[in-house]
Amino acid sequence: MFYEKLDWRYATKAMDASKVVSPEKIERIVDAARRAPTSSGLQPFQLILVTNNDIRAKLSAAAFGQKQITDGTAVLVFAAWENYTDENISSVVDLHAEIRGEEVREALNGYYDNLKAMYLARDAQTNFEHAARQAYIALGFALMAAAEEGVDTTPMEGFDPAQFDEILGLKEKGLKSVVTLAIGYRDEPSDWLAPQKKVRRSRDSIVTDVK
Ligand SMILES: Cc1cc2nc3c(=O)[nH]c(=O)nc-3n(C[C@H](O)[C@H](O)[C@H](O)COP(=O)(O)O)c2cc1C
Repeated sequence: MFYEKLDWRYATKAMDASKVVSPEKIERIVDAARRAPTSSGLQPFQLILVTNNDIRAKLSAAAFGQKQITDGTAVLVFAAWENYTDENISSVVDLHAEIRGEEVREALNGYYDNLKAMYLARDAQTNFEHAARQAYIALGFALMAAAEEGVDTTPMEGFDPAQFDEILGLKEKGLKSVVTLAIGYRDEPSDWLAPQKKVRRSRDSIVTDVK
């Protein structure tokens, strides 16, 4: 059940390198990230799915040696658009027209022209941060999809984004790495965190009821 899986999942510290997550499961996890909602439906990021061992070794070195990157089966790097442009915002209108028919284009142009007027006037860092926030929503979806599949994950911000960008050639694609998800199966005996209770603030300390 979904709510039990919220407790089952944890930020795995040791992955079992001898257990391989099936490509079908990995694809479903990636697909959940692809289906996440985003502001104005922009989906302003790319999902870089890395299974190559040499590249994962380089990524691990750029992530303080975190071994989940190499001992898991795959790593999903969430890379956000470095800025909004006329072109990348228009691509969303084009996609709508492709999927829902050309007749939707005119109505959407008004909305997305307003968005362009707002976003293109802002500095690149503000736009990148906005795009990065959308990537985090996708991360959440991938985390829970993995739990649903009985697959372990480690969400990671503990890496050097500049090095990740270099290793994955993201700059040339107008992207910047934001957050990473190691995907694999927990190595329970070696993972100090596996037997630990989950630590979360109580409902009363985190929820404010306004009635
Ligand atoms: C955005 C984000 C970045 C994180 N970065 C790392 C990381 O680099 N390495 C790591 O081992 N855990 C990382 N964590 C795991 C958190 O420490 C962990 O999710 C939190 O302590 C709650 O524990 P739980 O996920 O096991 O329930 C990260 C979590 C999130 C959401």
